[in-house]
Amino acid sequence: RYHVISFGPEYEASYVDSVAKALEGLIKGAVSKHGTARVALSGGSTPRPIHRRLAQMDLPLDRIDWFWVDERAVDVASERSNYGAAFADLGLDRAPPERVHRMEADDPDLAAAAARYEARLRRTFGVASAVAFDVLTVGIGDDGHTASLFPGMGSTTIDDRLVAAIPAQPHKGLEARLTLTAPVLCEALFVMGIARGKQKKKPLEAALRDGSEEEVPARVLLRARGKVTWFLHDVRLKL
Ligand code: 6PG
Repeated sequence: RYHVISFGPEYEASYVDSVAKALEGLIKGAVSKHGTARVALSGGSTPRPIHRRLAQMDLPLDRIDWFWVDERAVDVASERSNYGAAFADLGLDRAPPERVHRMEADDPDLAAAAARYEARLRRTFGVASAVAFDVLTVGIGDDGHTASLFPGMGSTTIDDRLVAAIPAQPHKGLEARLTLTAPVLCEALFVMGIARGKQKKKPLEAALRDGSEEEVPARVLLRARGKVTWFLHDVRLKL
């Protein structure tokens, strides 16, 4: 149901390079197949060097639609803005603005922002067709979350929307968020999981085993229709 590609701790540069090249290949493959590539990006620390490496590659920027998997309810200028980070790292100021589809999670009315993003997805993909990203990147949190589907909040069962607003979790120091829902993650043609560091071993092993999605939300990817490949750096799994 998934593939795992592991890099040892000493292979950091090859890890970043290989993941960026894999993304480049998926993007170019989609463009040559149907003229455009629809990509959705996750936030966090793992994608940052990968995005910077990808920015050095020769991408057909006029053919790529960039979306976000999730966005934290912070100002775009904040260090914690997934959009702000990816925009800077990928150099998206070079891309046609109409192809950069940010989630407006800085809107105090998060439900309205979620509805607007859903409408945008429907328009881009075609109202009658499935919202199937060519490639979607996800990470995993120490608590087993993926995208902004967090444990114990009922977020993995949301199936009547493409985009959901997730309330703040002050006890974890987390702000509110917008996230693509599990049905969208599972509809992607290719899910690229990226995770680094020994602390990801436990949540990832749990995510790759059947069990409660409410406890380990990354398990939703076990029902993905497309390919799921985890690219790991310094995570040695026992499966
Ligand atoms: C976010 C994410 C989130 C992330 C994981 C892993 O905005 O926080 O999209 O799901 O992918 O928390 O984050 P790291 O790459 O920092 O480990």
